[in-house]
Amino acid sequence: MQIVITGGCGFLGQMLAERLTRRGDNVTLFDVVAPPGGLGTLDGRVNLVTGDISDKPTVDVLIKGAGAVIHLASMVSAGSEADFDAAMRVNIDGGRHVLDACRAEGPATKVLFTSSLAIFGGAAMPARVDQMTRPVPQNTYGMTKVVTELFLNDMSRKGFLDGRAARLPTVIIRPGKPNAAASSFASGMFREPLSGVECRLPVPRGLRVMLGGYRTVVENLIRLLDVPLKSLGDDRVVNFPNQTASVTEMAAALQSVAKRRGIVLGSIVDAPDPKIAGIVGSWPAEMDATRALGLGLKDETGLERIVDDYIDDFIK
Ligand SMILES: NC(=O)c1ccc[n+]([C@@H]2O[C@H](COP(=O)([O-])OP(=O)(O)OC[C@H]3O[C@@H](n4cnc5c(N)ncnc54)[C@H](O)[C@@H]3O)[C@@H](O)[C@H]2O)c1
Repeated sequence: MQIVITGGCGFLGQMLAERLTRRGDNVTLFDVVAPPGGLGTLDGRVNLVTGDISDKPTVDVLIKGAGAVIHLASMVSAGSEADFDAAMRVNIDGGRHVLDACRAEGPATKVLFTSSLAIFGGAAMPARVDQMTRPVPQNTYGMTKVVTELFLNDMSRKGFLDGRAARLPTVIIRPGKPNAAASSFASGMFREPLSGVECRLPVPRGLRVMLGGYRTVVENLIRLLDVPLKSLGDDRVVNFPNQTASVTEMAAALQSVAKRRGIVLGSIVDAPDPKIAGIVGSWPAEMDATRALGLGLKDETGLERIVDDYIDDFIK
């Protein structure tokens, strides 16, 4: 199938492209800039188009002929909070451009959109959110994600396109450089010490965080893309499998793996940042994913397994 991945040069985009090209899909990555160091193993195996998702004519041309679009291009949480207007342009207008272009391609066109745990929040939020918990986001990023979920659900109901949306937990462990997500520390506190570098921790160690391992999340995104349409019914939005851990438990898992594998770690130093702690602290730590498991998505694997995978994939 011809698949376009918007925001395709980012963390999840490149991993999805790796998997999809291996199974024979023809993949186009669309991003605002090409990665300066190239696409590594993807070079020559994908088409690369650069442009801005907020430019409608660009998106119309990009999506012509696509059988599916995986829409990842987004301003992320801290970036959206710092610039409301840019978040509206990229996340809301950009999302509409993608959905409109898919509608023009016809009702069988699949759109897989990555929403987020950041849609939940507010003083009345239950300790464990579920599929039907009312989204009351406490940040602009979460608002843009709920709005796009609603567009996608309604356009699917109308039969304009075949939409699917994944509400992702914080995905660890992002290789390379951090991005502008408030949750960036959740990868950094593994990645930096594993490279022998000090990590500055902006949140309290007692904070509980909802996490997903990159291998499981990527596998589940592909499974959601492939779920038969009739199983999805009138709600195309799926809470993704996840696991909950405190920052202390995350550090303990890292230490346990490092000890077992003889790795000398850089240290983790407390460097409180009230803005980051405020955004991340407004998100739920627990999310029911029964529906996802019923649709055939895979459950999470445990923290140590994620650290081991990261070492095998990116360090050794
Ligand atoms: N990684 C996570 O923990 C996580 C959690 C919840 C939701 N999500 C969502 O999943 C998606 C992918 O996440 P990721 O971690 O790969 O993010 P990422 O930041 O690594 O990748 C996003 C990509 O979008 C591109 N982009 C930004 N603005 C653009 C624009 N105007 N036009 C075209 N491209 C643009 C960026 O250059 C980047 O390469 C995002 O929508 C994110 O909000 C991610």
